[in-house]
Order: sequence, then structure tokens, then C-alpha cells
Amino acid sequence: MNQTQKLTNENTVWHEPHIFRSDREKQNNHKSKILWFTGLSGSGKSTIANAVEHQLYHQGARTYVLDGDNIRKGLCKDLGFSDADRTENIRRIGEISKLMLDAGVIVLTAFISPFRKDREIVRNLVPTGDFIEIFCDAPLEICETRDPKGLYKKARAGQIPEFTGITSPYENPENPELVLITGNKSVDECVKDVLDYMKNHGVFIK
Ligand code: ADX
Repeated sequence: MNQTQKLTNENTVWHEPHIFRSDREKQNNHKSKILWFTGLSGSGKSTIANAVEHQLYHQGARTYVLDGDNIRKGLCKDLGFSDADRTENIRRIGEISKLMLDAGVIVLTAFISPFRKDREIVRNLVPTGDFIEIFCDAPLEICETRDPKGLYKKARAGQIPEFTGITSPYENPENPELVLITGNKSVDECVKDVLDYMKNHGVFIK
């Protein structure tokens, strides 16, 4: 933190809102949560997050998908794929997700988020139970065979430096709330697993 940032932070005062998260949740008939999809590129994070959102939307829930590729075209377009830039990417997404949680929304995030410590920082940013880590578990060989964006081929050819799984690490979650075996389960089965988890954990208010 530089001197200007420090002074700014010292001279800001929290303004208490009139409408609280609990009010918004009551209005929405569901709790707000962060469904944090993590996994290799091509492991199905965005596909499943969007399919879950589709179901939730049609059940009347307030939802929003934050997707790595999309966010990197706007809010995070100044960031690359070094370890430090990925950490900053996830820090920003964590803060946005926290705001959306307060806004009463079920936030679905689809970021590789390769580092355990960065995911833990987001988990610790919000109340216990609100960060649901969902590991899209597909082996590198399957992601590489799928290669929906042709990026693994380019990475193997040395055209993309620091590519996750090839020249940059991915740290598997140790205690995720949910593991989706996206390598051999269908999208529909994975969506059902996520929705069942939400039902079993009281996300929907009767
Ligand atoms: S993260 O590591 O910082 O969480 P993020 O999810 O935002 O990554 O972006 C990953 C997406 O960027 C991938 O799905 C892929 O389409 C694209 N991409 C471009 N370069 C890389 C790279 N070096 N490593 C991983 N993904 C990359």
C-alpha cells in the first residue's frame, strides 16, 4: 500500500446501509452464496456454471456468472498470467463476489484460480458457509484432448507462456465442498449435483 492509498483508507468511514443482506434474501426467497468453480482450462467450469445459472434463473433466483475469459476483457484486462497477476485477478473477483453476496445474489464464478492460498483468501473474506468451492476435476489429458479453444495446442507449441497445467501449476483443492468428476460425468449430472448440494444446505427459503 502506498502513502496516498494509506491516507485515503485512514480517512474513509463505513456508511451503514438501510437495507441489509438479510432483507434482500427474504425478498428473493433464497440465501446468497458464492459458488466458486475451480479447475483446469477446459474442465467445464463455465459450461456447468452457466447451466446451473440457467436452472436457477428459471426457478426465479437472482444469479450472476463471473467468467474468467469475460472478466479479462474488462475489469481485469490489465492483468496477464504471471503468478502475481493471477493472485490479483482472484483478489478482485473475491471482492466483487463479496459485494454481490451482500446484494443478495447467488454468484457463480468460473476462474481457474490455480492457487490454494488465493482461494482461501476469498473463503475467509465472507461468512463461514457462504463460499462453496466446487472442484471441476478433469485430468489434464482430457482437458487437453477437448481443447475447446485450441490453447493447449498453442501452449505445447511454446506459443503461450505460463499455461496452467503445462508451464504453470494448478493446486487441487484439499477440502472442497463439492467435487464434480467432469472428466466422465455429463453436464446434466454435474448440474444436478450442484443443485442438490444447494437444496441440502438450505439455500432456498421455503
Ligand atoms: S486465473 O488463473 O487467473 O484464474 P482465468 O480463469 O482468469 O485464470 O482465465 C483463464 C482463461 O484464460 C482460460 O480459460 C483460457 O481461455 C485463457 N488463457 C489465456 N492464457 C492462459 C494461460 N497462460 N493460462 C491459463 N489460461 C489462459
